[in-house]
Amino acid sequence: MSEPSSPDQPPGSLAGGTTPAFSTRDPNTAAFWDERFRQGFTPWDQAGVPAAFAAFASRTAPRPVLIPGCGSAHEALWLAQAGWTVRAIDFSADAVAAARARLGPQAALVEQADFFAYRPPFVPGWIYERAFFCALPPARRTDYAARMAQLLEPGGLLAGLFFFDDAPKGPPFGIVRAELHAILDGSFELVEDEPVTDSIPVFAGKERWMTWRRR
Ligand SMILES: C[S@@+](CC[C@H](N)C(=O)[O-])C[C@H]1O[C@@H](n2cnc3c(N)ncnc32)[C@H](O)[C@@H]1O
Repeated sequence: MSEPSSPDQPPGSLAGGTTPAFSTRDPNTAAFWDERFRQGFTPWDQAGVPAAFAAFASRTAPRPVLIPGCGSAHEALWLAQAGWTVRAIDFSADAVAAARARLGPQAALVEQADFFAYRPPFVPGWIYERAFFCALPPARRTDYAARMAQLLEPGGLLAGLFFFDDAPKGPPFGIVRAELHAILDGSFELVEDEPVTDSIPVFAGKERWMTWRRR
């Protein structure tokens, strides 16, 4: 994501970085993400867990967690080591390979699957969001909301980091607050909305921790 001067990327968000030449242009396909993982181009990767994630997990009673679009799956490892039940999925084989290498003995927690078809082995109490929603083309946003609503029972939490921006190009595809509410309010109530202090450059100043509770 964030490839200045390519037609599907916003300029500037990786200013100063070197962008490999890519042959794939559709972030709705696993091939797009495979190519970027293979080339080691993962500017969204925080190389650790966000502080807001750790804070939320620390103040929340353990419950089964689903992490869709997990990428390198730092958070899955953190939760597993803390004793939580967790499944992390990604439809990119190369992302899954990177995550499994990172998880070592916990590699089985990561599955290759498309979020929109995946059936988790438990009812998630928390679905964690980071850089997955903004990786999807905007045309898939209502599908995202519908699938989240299907997967969570009333009281279940969709909680994580949401990227706000009004630039039309991506990924990352930012969203404006009114549109996010229009997409989620029907099935979810916003119960936490906090600034984030440790964003990496791609998201700096434009992401917030949000907890949406399934109605
Ligand atoms: C920008 S990366 C973010 C990875 C990770 N969440 C992180 O914060 O580092 C987006 C990820 O979502 C995955 N992805 C996109 N669409 C998906 C889908 N329909 N099902 C599962 N994974 C998907 C991509 O393969 C990619 O690894």
